[in-house]
Amino acid sequence: MHRGRESGVGRRNAAWALFWVALLGSSAAGEGSSSPLFRDADLQLGEQLIVEHKCEACHIKRVGGDGTSIYSPVGRIRSASALLAMVEACNTEMGLGMFPEEVAAVAAVLNRDHYEFD
Ligand code: HEC
Repeated sequence: MHRGRESGVGRRNAAWALFWVALLGSSAAGEGSSSPLFRDADLQLGEQLIVEHKCEACHIKRVGGDGTSIYSPVGRIRSASALLAMVEACNTEMGLGMFPEEVAAVAAVLNRDHYEFD
């Protein structure tokens, strides 16, 4: 599950740019009940990645409990795209090396379980 670690930052940024192009293209035609940003996301992959990267372990240190109270829909994050950007920021800052589709999968799981943006 550590695929991509060796692929280098340049390639990852290129993949990220391509992802945004695809994303903006597809969200223009978005419909359906959940956010078009997460429509094609792999929720099972997202759940796996959240465990693998110990997201909750670190959040627990900060907010206690099961860590999920850090995900506050009334806080700074007010849209699906902001949520996606936040997960990408964590990805970059912590050097997790997730691919864009993995970041989207993680954000989709958080949206389903906590944020519930349309
Ligand atoms: C090393 C510690 C650490 C790890 C690991 C970590 N986070 Fe965080 N995360 C934080 C802290 C601290 C905050 C709160 C930042 C703040 O309030 O300014 C936060 C905030 C967030 C928020 C914003 C919550 C809100 O609604 O404002 C999201 C979303 C998030 N993290 C997702 C993730 C995901 C997904 C992962 C795993 C891929 C992850 N984080 C891993 C420390 C961590």
